[in-house]
Amino acid sequence: MNKIRWGILGCGAFGQRAIAPAIVKAAGGELVSIQRRRVKLARKTAREFGLKHFCVDERQMLAEDLVDAVFIASPNALHAPQTLLAAKYGKHVLVEKPMSLNAAEGRKMMAACSRAGVKLMVGQCSRFYAQTVKARELVQQGKLGKIQAVYLSFTFVGKLADRSWLLERKVAGGGPLMDLGVHLLDNLCFVLNDRVKTVSAWMQPRRSGTKVEKECALRLRMNKGTVAQLYCSYTSPGSHHYRFLGTKGELAMQLRDGAPLDLFCDYRLKQLKVPRYDHVRKEIEAFNRHLLGKGPNPVPGKDGLRNMQVIDAAYRSVEKGQEIRIAY
Ligand SMILES: NC(=O)c1ccc[n+]([C@@H]2O[C@H](COP(=O)([O-])OP(=O)(O)OC[C@H]3O[C@@H](n4cnc5c(N)ncnc54)[C@H](OP(=O)(O)O)[C@@H]3O)[C@@H](O)[C@H]2O)c1
Repeated sequence: MNKIRWGILGCGAFGQRAIAPAIVKAAGGELVSIQRRRVKLARKTAREFGLKHFCVDERQMLAEDLVDAVFIASPNALHAPQTLLAAKYGKHVLVEKPMSLNAAEGRKMMAACSRAGVKLMVGQCSRFYAQTVKARELVQQGKLGKIQAVYLSFTFVGKLADRSWLLERKVAGGGPLMDLGVHLLDNLCFVLNDRVKTVSAWMQPRRSGTKVEKECALRLRMNKGTVAQLYCSYTSPGSHHYRFLGTKGELAMQLRDGAPLDLFCDYRLKQLKVPRYDHVRKEIEAFNRHLLGKGPNPVPGKDGLRNMQVIDAAYRSVEKGQEIRIAY
């Protein structure tokens, strides 16, 4: 095999805007088929990307010798069942964030892929931003000294009307914590190369019945002693900001294509330029390399599972009104 044949399950807004173009451009693979619910839209999307094959029922893609891997870009409640199905048919899986609705589902997905001998990657695409890569490099080189505090925020207010499932607990699992906070948690652990030890959460309104929270703040204590504060919401305009404070300096950045980082060290402020590129394409190229036996799994299932364990604990923290220790 020298090229991965890809199919996209749930090729809706994100699939069409970001994933399909990225697969088409990524080295080491090709887009062969897409699946989505409405046949008219499936036909139209296939035409847009010049594909001969499309389907409404994913089995029509999976049961054939048509694709080697699927990118699951369906709403969150479908991530686990579609991963189990893909594994049953021997297809590798790149599943969108959040990996699942909860950690229990995440464990089942990992077990099914391992039993079937297929690879599982979680689509934590924010790791592939040039700013994240640079931040991890600086932190791991010790440029900022010991990291004492981290402030992360991700907010988003638009297009909820087009994707009403984001507000339905049964389909989304939760609100901004599941949708946006999962990026913050993942990047926090990735940049620091650390795990969350305890979580204390505040949400407004609380996730309850069929409804999800609209705002969420987390206070986290990390294994290596860092304290982190995360804020995510569906009530402020789109922004994605990070600040890392260490004993030797501070790093501030926005996750936006091409945005420079501000590094404050030795009482001097330096702007660090980063290259511009499509981070989703980088994500797919990294998995293509892994599937072709040329590199490690960039975001293995166990990383997605850890994020879900922290998210489960955050909802528990709100219910109980106390800090929760994560049981890995
Ligand atoms: N990594 C990132 O930065 C990023 C960014 C955006 C989204 N995402 C993730 O991508 C996934 C999909 O998000 P999206 O915005 O692309 O969603 P979307 O466009 O609303 O839907 C994706 C697909 O699911 C189908 N669908 C919509 N509502 C459904 C429902 N209630 N039940 C079953 N199927 C339904 C759509 O059907 P039709 O074919 O009929 O339209 C479409 O095929 C989510 O897991 C989200 O977290 C990731």
